[in-house]
Amino acid sequence: MAALSPAPLILAGQGWTDYGLIDSGHGRKLERYGPYRFIRPEAQALWAPRLSDWDADGEFVPGSDEDGGGKWHFSREVPREGWPLAWGDVRFTAQCTPFRHLGFFPDMAPVWEWMGEQLGGSDDAATLNLFGYTGVGTLALSAHGAVAHVDASKKSVAQAKENAALSGMENRPIRWLVDDAAKFAAREVRRGRRYDGIILDPPKFGRGPGGEVWRLEEHLPALVADCRQLLDAQSRFLFLTVYAVRMSSLAIAGLLAEALAGLPGEIEHGELAVREEGEGGRLLPTAIFARWCGG
Ligand SMILES: C[S@@+](CC[C@H](N)C(=O)[O-])C[C@H]1O[C@@H](n2cnc3c(N)ncnc32)[C@H](O)[C@@H]1O
Repeated sequence: MAALSPAPLILAGQGWTDYGLIDSGHGRKLERYGPYRFIRPEAQALWAPRLSDWDADGEFVPGSDEDGGGKWHFSREVPREGWPLAWGDVRFTAQCTPFRHLGFFPDMAPVWEWMGEQLGGSDDAATLNLFGYTGVGTLALSAHGAVAHVDASKKSVAQAKENAALSGMENRPIRWLVDDAAKFAAREVRRGRRYDGIILDPPKFGRGPGGEVWRLEEHLPALVADCRQLLDAQSRFLFLTVYAVRMSSLAIAGLLAEALAGLPGEIEHGELAVREEGEGGRLLPTAIFARWCGG
């Protein structure tokens, strides 16, 4: 029976050649994405910045409305169509999107790494990436076998396929699916499918391609219950991240503990964070997570 470890963990990303958190403070953060530096709003940076001068190529200035709006202001030329970055052998296009992010989520790097460790040397694992976005996690998983990548956005899936081509991974066994995550999972349960690993990175609110409404607090328990049906005692992991929602990692771990009670292994939970570069770099929290790994 999967045991819940009550003490929270911090899963901290360190930055790498193509990405780093340079500084944070006064409600903003300064990051480097390859050759460019950007300033973005960051509500959790309550402290003061360590550096006195933030020299950036662009800044996302939020609108007055807390839930969205705002736009990029550029002080130097930045390619609007994006530029290539790499994480390990995965290559992808970074771009200043109207949603204030850069087309991938760098705080997920330790998650992608952990999933790879759970699959060890295996090259015939079957994994499922729900809410897969632009596919960096999917491409990392595809080193271990077949991946089903599900996202409601045609544009995100098209970008994910372009990232596969950029990485020279277009022949990897990946099913690219424009679909509603909850509907897809329910359909896979009816088909009696099983997976070795599942990653779930749901937004607080979203819509499926057919207008299906996704509200995290309302729909997560049923989706996790379906994911349980897709796992068995030989499966390796389930990784769930939640952000921008008033919720504790202990709560989502409790949900996994209930749904996955019949499986062996362990459930852990905590926060994802990114460490600022340089000496004395602080940990900037980005999301909460709960994960199960098989026995
Ligand atoms: C935060 S992103 C996931 C980030 C990704 N895991 C990564 O690390 O790059 C959330 C994604 O959920 C998708 N989405 C929103 N509602 C959905 C739904 N009902 N079914 C499937 N995908 C949905 C969005 O299109 C978006 O790409």
